[in-house]
Amino acid sequence: MGMKIFLIGFMGTGKTHWGKRLSEKLHIPFFDLDEQIVEHEKKTINEIFAERGEEYFRLLEKDVLHIIAGYNESFIMACGGGTPCYYNNIDYMNQQGISVWLNTSTDILFQRLAKEKSKRPLLKDLNDIQMKEFIQKKLADRKIYYEQASIILEEDTLTLDRLVEKIFHA
Ligand code: S3P
Repeated sequence: MGMKIFLIGFMGTGKTHWGKRLSEKLHIPFFDLDEQIVEHEKKTINEIFAERGEEYFRLLEKDVLHIIAGYNESFIMACGGGTPCYYNNIDYMNQQGISVWLNTSTDILFQRLAKEKSKRPLLKDLNDIQMKEFIQKKLADRKIYYEQASIILEEDTLTLDRLVEKIFHA
């Protein structure tokens, strides 16, 4: 039987990190949605936002999500931070398989994102104070989508075994 697992959560929650580890442990292919979008468009995420705008990116994100999920029987997918919040994508993921929200404290998100904001169009032009505000506000706005995940886990104290256990008991 196929197993489609979607890791969701804010930028900086470690969706790619956990996705790769889970993929190795379960021997199921791993897809990073942002990476697939970049490959599909032959442009970086920053370029897509700058040249075509966020609306175009969201449409593309939905299309690539459907392509991967539609053509593959089993996979672990690291979604983008905004993926579950547009085009009923969260409903689609829950119909297709299991969604897992990795919830990380805003302090840890800030520490991680401050170091790696240049590749993220929504963060790259913000200073530290603006970024703190952005994280808090955006996370509050997005919670209603993230909370619809099949599984919710606190990422700060997460272990691979716990992640696997939760998935098999979902
Ligand atoms: C976004 C998150 C990014 C990427 C894009 C927009 C968002 O993915 O899809 O920059 O809206 O939160 P990561 O969560 O992998 O950084």
